[in-house]
Amino acid sequence: MTGKRVLLIIGGGIAAYKSLELVRELTKRGHAVRCVMTKAAQEFVTPLSFASLSGEKVHTELFAMTDEVEMGHIELSRSADLVVVAPATADLMAKMAQGLCNDLASTLLLATDKPVMIAPAMNVRMWEHPATQRNLITLRHDGVSVIGPDEGSMACGEFGPGRMAEPVAIADAIEAHFAQRSGPLAGKRVLVTSGPTHEPIDPVRYIANRSSGKQGSAIAQALARAGADVQFVTGPAEAPKPEGCAIIPVETAAQMHAAALAALPCDIAIFAAAVADWRVQNAAPGKVKKDGSGKPPSLKLTENPDILREISQLKPGKRPALVIGFAAETDEVLANATAKRMRKGCDWLVANDVSPATGIMGGDQNEVHLLGAGDPEHWPRASKAQIAERLVARIIDWAKSSNEKAVC
Ligand code: C5P
Repeated sequence: MTGKRVLLIIGGGIAAYKSLELVRELTKRGHAVRCVMTKAAQEFVTPLSFASLSGEKVHTELFAMTDEVEMGHIELSRSADLVVVAPATADLMAKMAQGLCNDLASTLLLATDKPVMIAPAMNVRMWEHPATQRNLITLRHDGVSVIGPDEGSMACGEFGPGRMAEPVAIADAIEAHFAQRSGPLAGKRVLVTSGPTHEPIDPVRYIANRSSGKQGSAIAQALARAGADVQFVTGPAEAPKPEGCAIIPVETAAQMHAAALAALPCDIAIFAAAVADWRVQNAAPGKVKKDGSGKPPSLKLTENPDILREISQLKPGKRPALVIGFAAETDEVLANATAKRMRKGCDWLVANDVSPATGIMGGDQNEVHLLGAGDPEHWPRASKAQIAERLVARIIDWAKSSNEKAVC
């Protein structure tokens, strides 16, 4: 990605120190960062630190005559490609939502005509307060994109949502934002399913599998970096959610089925989810209890809809132009995967060996075979992020050749 210009507004919270790392991360990736600090932010970190890391003058005052002569505040708010507020304190969010402007940061935010992204950071009670949640809804409605906050222990000793997202995650979200306008998959709408599904037995118990969702998340993240508009339908997974994607959380296969159909039409669909083949037909409305007879309750299973198969077999026009399935096998990987590709009707199939000895299910690495994109290929063991990059590189090649065919 060619370097972009980011105007970084630093609010007054302890997370301001993490924004130093964000500046490093963005400059390392080739972007130019210009910093603006609120008065409170300067209580936590000095402007000199941001100036040293960004290599640019740091702006702090609304009525600074020399600054106005060098570059007026209106110009400062418009010369960037993106305005990022990190940390976005409760106070800054409230000002943004109300359109208040009584210092440089809030004035720039009201004067800008550029997209705005915020990374909120505050005490958990402040985050959960109805006023902040109201402001959040207003800001989203105004088109502001929001990254985080994360959940965890906080500087104030409390625990919960309110920690600023990690600098690398914010930088990823910023790059996904830029890529959506200029990456090789810009304009392509992609559906990705990921994670396990939970099939209820009763309100407190469910049938699940060991899928972590790591491979699906990595693929969605790589697609977003390449500029795709990603609809990420995910079961309850432990993997971090990909930045810059529309996240559609589901729990059961039936919900995943409905969400996948609702995400159509799309150009490309990738089914990385480990969908439960069966659900409990006689799921109980209340918690099932031992009845003293010593006999366990009997569960009656029924088959779930096969999402990959159904979408692969849609009529041309409704069917995504490229449908990619996954096959998690424990034996005869290639033979089973080849048969599965035919049975499902997908274009490509990514097959992996998930026998416990491989450590692939739930692990950070994968080793796969790609079927259907020319001769079968074996991709040796690599991180799930690297496998995702390689798959997305193939998708970019496919998109280029299908664009060329469309032109001919
Ligand atoms: O049939 P099997 O589960 O082995 O097929 C795996 C592939 O099919 C994966 O791509 C998975 O996401 C998809 N699948 C699906 N709906 C199901 C079962 C599997 O989309 N109900």
